[in-house]
Amino acid sequence: MQDLSVSDHLGGQMSRLCGVLGLDPSAPVELLGELLGPHRNRPLSAPPAFLSDVADDHSPVEFSIAYNESEPPALRILAEGFGARPGVRENHAANLDFLRAQSERYGLSTTRLDAVRDLFTTANPQGDFVLWLSLVFRSGRRPEFKVYFNPEVEGRERAFDLIGEAFDRLGLGPGYRTMLKHSIRSGEQGRLDRLAFFALDLHDTPQARVKLYLAHHDATAQDVARAATVVDGVDPDELIDFISRSGRSHRYSGRPLVGSFTVTGGADRPNGYSIYVPIRSYVTDDSEARERILPLLSRYRFDPAVLDRALAAISDRPLTDGVGLIAHSSLRLGPPRPGMTVYLSSEAYETRAPRSVSLPAA
Ligand code: TRP
Repeated sequence: MQDLSVSDHLGGQMSRLCGVLGLDPSAPVELLGELLGPHRNRPLSAPPAFLSDVADDHSPVEFSIAYNESEPPALRILAEGFGARPGVRENHAANLDFLRAQSERYGLSTTRLDAVRDLFTTANPQGDFVLWLSLVFRSGRRPEFKVYFNPEVEGRERAFDLIGEAFDRLGLGPGYRTMLKHSIRSGEQGRLDRLAFFALDLHDTPQARVKLYLAHHDATAQDVARAATVVDGVDPDELIDFISRSGRSHRYSGRPLVGSFTVTGGADRPNGYSIYVPIRSYVTDDSEARERILPLLSRYRFDPAVLDRALAAISDRPLTDGVGLIAHSSLRLGPPRPGMTVYLSSEAYETRAPRSVSLPAA
């Protein structure tokens, strides 16, 4: 075991997950290797090359299973590629290089990315990252790519103007401003919600989206539902129900609830919404997280057995032995593909011990 490398570990999880979802593992595993770049052969027993915030244990990759109403579940990864000498700026450059290398092969459209990327290119970036990537694998289709920018690269104060400029450049300013007005809570110290990610799909189809993620620190499910109602068709009760069944808390004072708002051209308000519940902060162990998610999957008519097979594909530890293998539980409302997503950690470096006391119920 001691010679296992980072790519052996993550690649093994990836190909087993592909097996569960009936996907051909060759492209996913190859892309993962390219993304890990020079660090792929680093032994797992060595400390991580960079303390990525993609996952709690600093693994550079987080998996997710995206259940859809209209097609079989997709496999996704959120990832941070590292520079040869890892660092926030170096990783940003490495991720852009990776995209450039894939661009032709996978027909990526970087028009939107090119229109805004200088806004995030700063000599002294704040925070843990500038740019993360996500790759989506669906049966019989080419992989899809997305980028996630850190809105706070120039600090928390600048974030709202910076993102305003990005939306303006994409001709989507009105949708952004409607969302700001409707969906951000203010307190005595200013805004209570923070901009977590600004995301772009790198394809050129009518479904290509621009998304903004809000982190609702210390919020209740009702606060989040109020923010979400800026999107037509979002049922606040459905959202509150999903959040409460996943998180079972009154106020979410651990890791924040995160909502994402999709903004598309020609609309003066966002027209798609997803909620991300960081379920791992609100359960004793992964067995409890699983028990909360299974009924939600059934309720949305997704096959609960897929989750158990996916969990078995990434870890053979008993679910009661740790917390965080199931990282987030998410509900997507509205087009293009409503459904649920369950995020799974690789635990390449560490398993967090279960909490010793149960959290109070809501
Ligand atoms: N690990 C970070 C967090 O939990 C970033 C992150 C990874 C994240 N996957 C996510 C945030 C899904 C929201 C939703 O905050």
